[in-house]
Amino acid sequence: MTEPLTGEAQRFATVNSLMSAIAGTGRDARRGGYSRPVYSTAELELREWFVAEATARGLAVERDSNGIIWAWWDLPDRHDGGAPAGADPRAGALVTGSHLDSVPGGGPFDGPLGVASALAAFDVLKMREAAGTLARKRAFAIAVFPEEEGSAFGVACLGSRLLTGAIDPVRALNLTDERGTTFADASRAHGLDPDAMGRDELALSRIGDFVELHVEQGRGLNTEDYTDAAGRGPAVAVASSILGHGRWRLSFTGQGNHAGTTLMTDRADPMIAASQAVLAIRSIGAAQPGARATVGRLEPVPGGTNVIASRVDLWIDVRHPDDAVTAALVTRILEQAQQIAALEGCAAELTEESLSATVHFDASLTRALTASAARTVPGTPALATGAGHDAGVLASEVPTGMLFVRNPSGISHSPEEYVEDDDAATGTAALADALGDLL
Ligand code: GLV
Ligand code: MN
Ligand code: MN
Repeated sequence: MTEPLTGEAQRFATVNSLMSAIAGTGRDARRGGYSRPVYSTAELELREWFVAEATARGLAVERDSNGIIWAWWDLPDRHDGGAPAGADPRAGALVTGSHLDSVPGGGPFDGPLGVASALAAFDVLKMREAAGTLARKRAFAIAVFPEEEGSAFGVACLGSRLLTGAIDPVRALNLTDERGTTFADASRAHGLDPDAMGRDELALSRIGDFVELHVEQGRGLNTEDYTDAAGRGPAVAVASSILGHGRWRLSFTGQGNHAGTTLMTDRADPMIAASQAVLAIRSIGAAQPGARATVGRLEPVPGGTNVIASRVDLWIDVRHPDDAVTAALVTRILEQAQQIAALEGCAAELTEESLSATVHFDASLTRALTASAARTVPGTPALATGAGHDAGVLASEVPTGMLFVRNPSGISHSPEEYVEDDDAATGTAALADALGDLL
C-alpha cells in the first residue's frame, strides 16, 4: 500500500512507487524479465494488488463475467450532472486502464504502467474534485483486462474480445494452454461461469470513452523526427493508429522416428521443413514494405533430442497497415510452406488463430487527448504503433484513444523495455489532465 502524499506533482510520482511495489512479482529467473501469464500465481497476485489499491482509494471493485476487473468511482448521489432517475448512473462512463499479464520474459511496463498511472491519476482527480476544481459529469472506472498478451491461451486481448463479441465465446472457451487446460476450465477454477462469457451489452454501455496509457514499444519517440539536440524525444505521444495484425499456426507433419536408426535419406522430418519455412517467412516479410513477419514460437512434437519429430507447430505473427496485404502475405507463406513440406515428404497446414484489422483511433478523442497532454508536454506528437492493445479491440464499439510514454531503449516484449521515473510521472500528469478534461 502506498503512503498518502500531498500536492499534485508528488501524486503523479506515485506511479513509480506503485510500479516498485509490484517489481518483485513474476520475475522469471530463466528467461529474464517477467512472466505473468493470465491465471498464473504472478498475475493473480497483481490482480490482488490492484484490488487492494483500488479498494483503499474508495473505488467500488467488481469482476465481470468475462474476468475484467472494474474499479468504479461513481457519481455522488446528488450531482448536478448526475444520471436522470431510473437511468444507469454508470452509463457512458469514462474508463481508463490496461492489463497486468505479460509475454514470457517481458518487461515491467507493458500493461502495469497503464494500471499504475490510472491509480495515480485517479488520486489527483479525486483531489481536484475535493478542491472544487473538477466537476464531474459522468462516472469513472479503471479497467484491468485479462489475457491481453495471449501468452497462455494464444489469442491476444481475450478479455476485450469476449466483452465486444469479437471472439465467439465457444471458441474462446475451447482454447487451451500448454498443459491442455481449456480456457473454460481455467476460468471456472478461478470463479467465473464459462456459460456467462461473451458480449456484454451492459458493460459496453458503461464505456463512454476508453483511454489507455501504455509504454511506447518501439523507437517511435527516439527518431530524429522528435528528438532534441540532446537526442531526447518528448515524454508522451498520443496514439494515431494500430497496425493490423494476426496470428496463425503453421503445422508441419512428417514421420516421427528414431534419430539413430533412420538413414538421412529415409526421413520425412518436419523440423527441416519448419526451419526452411522460418527463413522463407522472414524473406516474404522483408520483401513487403511496411510488413512485419515473425516466428517467435516453435514446438516439435514429441520434442526429444534422439527423436525425429512427427509434427512441428510454429506460430506466425504478421502485421501490415493494409489488411488485404496481410492476407496476401499469409497466402504466400502457406504456398511456400506447402512446397517446402512436399520436398521433405511432409505436409503443411495453416490455421488462423486471430486477426485484428488496422485501427485508426477516434479522431475527436485523439484531438482532445492531444490538447490535454500538450499542457504537460508541449507539442505532444501523434504516433502510430505496431503493437496490439485492448484499446484497439474496444475501438470497434466505443471512442478509444491512447497515450504512449517514451521508452528510451526502444525495446519491448523483452527485459530491456524501459521507462524513466520522470517520464512515468509526466505521462501520469498528461493522463490526469486528459481524464479531468473528459470527465
Ligand atoms: C501485444 O503487445 C502485441 O502487439 O502482440
Ligand atoms: Mn505487449
Ligand atoms: Mn500491452
